[in-house]
Amino acid sequence: MTVCEAPGKVYLFGEHAVVYGEPAVPAAIERRARVTAEPREDDHVRVTAEDLSLDGFTVEYAGGTGERPDIDAPAPLVEAAMGYVDAAVRQARSAADAPDAGFDITVESEIPLGAGLGSSAAVVVAGIDAATRALGEPLDRRELADRAYRAEFEVQDGQASRADTFCSTMGGAVRVEGDDCEPIDAPNLPFVIGFDGGAGDTGELVAGVRELREEHRFAADTVRSIGDIVRAGEELLADAVPEADPSRELLEELGDLMDFNHGLLSALGVSARSLDAMVWAARDAGAHGAKLTGAGGGGCIVALDPGEETPTALSFTQGCEEAFRAELATEGVRAVD
Ligand code: PMV
Repeated sequence: MTVCEAPGKVYLFGEHAVVYGEPAVPAAIERRARVTAEPREDDHVRVTAEDLSLDGFTVEYAGGTGERPDIDAPAPLVEAAMGYVDAAVRQARSAADAPDAGFDITVESEIPLGAGLGSSAAVVVAGIDAATRALGEPLDRRELADRAYRAEFEVQDGQASRADTFCSTMGGAVRVEGDDCEPIDAPNLPFVIGFDGGAGDTGELVAGVRELREEHRFAADTVRSIGDIVRAGEELLADAVPEADPSRELLEELGDLMDFNHGLLSALGVSARSLDAMVWAARDAGAHGAKLTGAGGGGCIVALDPGEETPTALSFTQGCEEAFRAELATEGVRAVD
């Protein structure tokens, strides 16, 4: 039995624009998805996911075929999660050159599904890592990240950047620009997350931005401006002391850029009333900056605040279901005993 766990992430800057070749800086957070893989005698895949839905489910099927198993899914999100597990199995089989390998797989996750915290990437990364290790063919991190990206790309019909999967594999903060991905140094940023209990449809939101960008020059300029914000943010991070507590001045400067980034994402139509309410509640409570994270439309915001004011204020904000502090996960995917 092999168990691997991979972290979720927040976007410090750059979601959506990264789809059009601008850079983005996601950062891994200490909320993990854990996947257990046990090879089977036959070529079937049995998936148990206790906490991906209220009821949990177990399904056994002739897996890795690319066809969604016919399950009585308790929710569309659970069906989507199955798609990611299946894609991870296919990647593991191809990496280990074991096309008929079967597995019993268990998925547990502390990351809300589809809420902008990279839950699907974490499941795919941990899934490929666990399944290839279980077959005695562990992958190096670069290949793991690449295969995880290909799995996401397939499930999301070609609309995925490398950001989530690379960040979840490597941990820490990373910089992604097209196919170019590198870990970067970052201080211990005091992330506070607000979650509205919902989720956006990444495919629809990405398509919406694409349409706007094709129709209006000002929308294309907005996407480029997000790229400028990312570049400014990178410079600030490069001057900071890695893995140390950041100065107040640095938090203020990063926070201003996050606020600006949120405004531009709003202009592109990917915010939501609940996300805006949480962003303003965080700012009113004294957070240094706040923005939505991920595809938007619903889900999570991320704010910077070393104190307790922002989590407390968020927990009293209408539309906020959960508020929590999240540490930077300096370690990416890892095998656990
Ligand atoms: O909502 P998430 O965590 O899957 O992030 C989506 C980020 C986008 O830039 C909108 C799409 C992508 O694949 O980069």
